[in-house]
Amino acid sequence: MPILNSVYRHREAGKTLTALADYRAAGGFKALEHALGEMEADDLQYAFVRSGLRGRGGAGFPMGRKASFLPKDSKLPKYVVCNADESEPGTFKDREIMEMNPFQLLEGLALAGFAIGAARGYIYIRGEYEHQARILDAAVLAAREAGFLGTNILRSGFDYDITVYRGAGAYICGEETALLESLEGKRGQPRLKPPFPAVAGLYGSPTLINNVETLAALPPIVTNGADWYLSMGTEKSPGTKLFSISGHVVKPGNYEVVLGDTTLRELIYEHAGGLREGRRVKAVWVGGSSVPVIGEEHLDVPLDYESLQGVGTALGSGGCIVMDDSGCIVRACLRLATFYRHESCGKCSPCREGTSWFERILQRMVDGEGRMEDFDLLESLFRRVSGKTLCPLADGAIAPIRSAITLFRDDFIRVCQEGSPRPDPMLPATVG
Ligand SMILES: Cc1cc2nc3c(=O)[nH]c(=O)nc-3n(C[C@H](O)[C@H](O)[C@H](O)COP(=O)(O)O)c2cc1C
Ligand code: SF4
Repeated sequence: MPILNSVYRHREAGKTLTALADYRAAGGFKALEHALGEMEADDLQYAFVRSGLRGRGGAGFPMGRKASFLPKDSKLPKYVVCNADESEPGTFKDREIMEMNPFQLLEGLALAGFAIGAARGYIYIRGEYEHQARILDAAVLAAREAGFLGTNILRSGFDYDITVYRGAGAYICGEETALLESLEGKRGQPRLKPPFPAVAGLYGSPTLINNVETLAALPPIVTNGADWYLSMGTEKSPGTKLFSISGHVVKPGNYEVVLGDTTLRELIYEHAGGLREGRRVKAVWVGGSSVPVIGEEHLDVPLDYESLQGVGTALGSGGCIVMDDSGCIVRACLRLATFYRHESCGKCSPCREGTSWFERILQRMVDGEGRMEDFDLLESLFRRVSGKTLCPLADGAIAPIRSAITLFRDDFIRVCQEGSPRPDPMLPATVG
């Protein structure tokens, strides 16, 4: 069933698929052979559209539709860019795909390249992923030597190669246009949109940019067909999704689930081994730190895009952070505010100044020096910043704090009066 299951089957057997021979033995590169030998580029693109695969980087935009936005008559070269920046707190699924199964990602990039008529793909990998970058470099070499990359791939006439490019550790370089700026050798700051990358992306050329997990899902879709993919999940959220689960759970890690089939409770208690004895769930950021937080009352929500939206949050990147009732929600918000203040690229003043104010106000609350007026002050800041910035980072900074104040107002009031002497709530369950 699960499309990235090969990763897990091999991990359980103590093996990875980092050797090309192992990947081939597990059916690797069959999809590319099939596509190059028997499909037209447009058929391949149509298969992506039909599969309903949605982007796994955060926004959930349909991958095939995005590919169809690239102008067909453009004389400019086209590019595929894989977003492997993976800096959203709580998210570490792409790391595991690259580490355990790099060839599936390369095959996905080659399929995407064939579908849009590109001759080059780039993998922009976050600077901290040095080990994974080396694995990818070795995989690209091996794939090239075996004729799966380079010129005239599998004697089909299709030329395509991949460059692995290492970032320098900035969260904002995960935002697609900041990533493109960085890839071009400039300061990584978001561009004004439109034009969108599909029309004017890397070096001003039409560019398809997708997340690691999105691209790695393409080979099984081509091998098994769009109907197979559609048969899993819900009508609007087909297929499977990797969830990285961390925080106060017994077995943190990556778990692949069929969308809509598994509830948040099952993810926490069945896959991730539940909480420490005697503890209850206090708060969960299901889709990374940039989504609204939800509480224990929503544990039975099915994990799919629509259901999570229905309870006021978002599936996002699938970086599910769990906090039990030993944690302090205000301190957790402060930790996040510090992160966003540090990572704001500073290009727009509402974000640059606002994120700094969020942190300062939360800090005085945690120090027991909060004032009742601070709630209105924060809300007024949220209104002045939200929707008034170049990219969604600022809204991503607001969502977890604003939702936490709504959901846990009594905790905030108590901390304002007494401070927060508790240990760091973001420490894993095994610590303290
Ligand atoms: C501040 C910020 C950080 C982001 N970080 C990432 C990231 O690390 N990885 C990623 O794939 N997408 C990230 N995104 C989303 C990308 O801009 C883009 O939507 C995504 O790469 C598209 O791929 P997908 O359609 O396959 O999801 C980020 C967006 C924002 C606003
Ligand atoms: S919202 Fe923040 S991170 Fe995004 S462009 Fe503006 S200053 Fe930079």
